[in-house]
Amino acid sequence: MKLGLIGCGKMGRALLEGALKAGIVKASDVYVSSRTAETRESLAKELGVHAVESNVELAQKSDAVYLCTKPNVLPIVLLELAETPECLDGTLLISTAAGLTVEALEQPLPDSSRVIRCMPNTPALIGKGAAAYTLGKNADTVDAATACKLLGAAGSVIEVPEYLMNAVTGVSGSGPAYVYTFIEALADGGVLKGLPRAQALELATQTVLGAASMVAETGLHPAILRDMVTSPGGTTITAVQSLEDNGFRSTTIAAVEAAAEKAEELGRK
Ligand SMILES: NC(=O)c1ccc[n+]([C@@H]2O[C@H](COP(=O)([O-])OP(=O)(O)OC[C@H]3O[C@@H](n4cnc5c(N)ncnc54)[C@H](OP(=O)(O)O)[C@@H]3O)[C@@H](O)[C@H]2O)c1
Repeated sequence: MKLGLIGCGKMGRALLEGALKAGIVKASDVYVSSRTAETRESLAKELGVHAVESNVELAQKSDAVYLCTKPNVLPIVLLELAETPECLDGTLLISTAAGLTVEALEQPLPDSSRVIRCMPNTPALIGKGAAAYTLGKNADTVDAATACKLLGAAGSVIEVPEYLMNAVTGVSGSGPAYVYTFIEALADGGVLKGLPRAQALELATQTVLGAASMVAETGLHPAILRDMVTSPGGTTITAVQSLEDNGFRSTTIAAVEAAAEKAEELGRK
């Protein structure tokens, strides 16, 4: 498969590196474009892929194209591609833009365009991403399989109906940032109680990694796993009470809701 990447920022790079590391695509079959020559050429040099000056030329050369510009730039890129409609013959477009609906993506494009909207996250860079996708009106099961293969190379992938894509943004698209904040705060607590910063961070990071792996590998509900480590009258239940008193759960739920609403707002612009 020939893969194109329009937009070589954090997300585009994470998805591309995921696909290359998993051997889904060969570097010699990858084309990248960006706003500035500097960005695309440095990525091309680093990963051994081809830098292409024009988005139209990139689409022409590719079987599938990841659209990884910011949501406010993507409509301009789509119009640019639509001006040379033949560049999209046989090309599957996979958008990563938060908020932009399948309908908004398809609207400026030729009627026969095949489009998929996805929401990945940056741990894709190390093959630990979590992504969801939804199909456009012309995308078929072969296209879905291509999206699964590409996104699956960089972590887990699920299909959801379009109306849930903003919820996905709130949970997993933006989620890594909440977890980084939690890890930092957990380490800060250790520092407050006298641990050296590096040791506190190591303990906090491994704790989050271990707890997440317990949920993933045992298949048990997080509440059951939590009950297993909260002995009556003990330290952990005392800490859990403090989390609840300080609104940890409702603050987290509100953060997901805020991100989903922001994605919705981006889609309306
Ligand atoms: N970051 C995340 O955690 C995350 C998670 C889920 C989804 N997303 C989605 O992923 C998309 C990209 O986000 P990001 O964080 O990777 O953004 P970013 O780091 O700012 O990268 C954006 C890239 O788009 C390029 N670009 C701008 N205008 C262009 C044009 N006309 N033609 C071709 N390329 C152009 C930029 O090129 P220059 O470098 O040359 O300016 C840059 O490489 C967004 O739509 C976002 O909603 C991001």
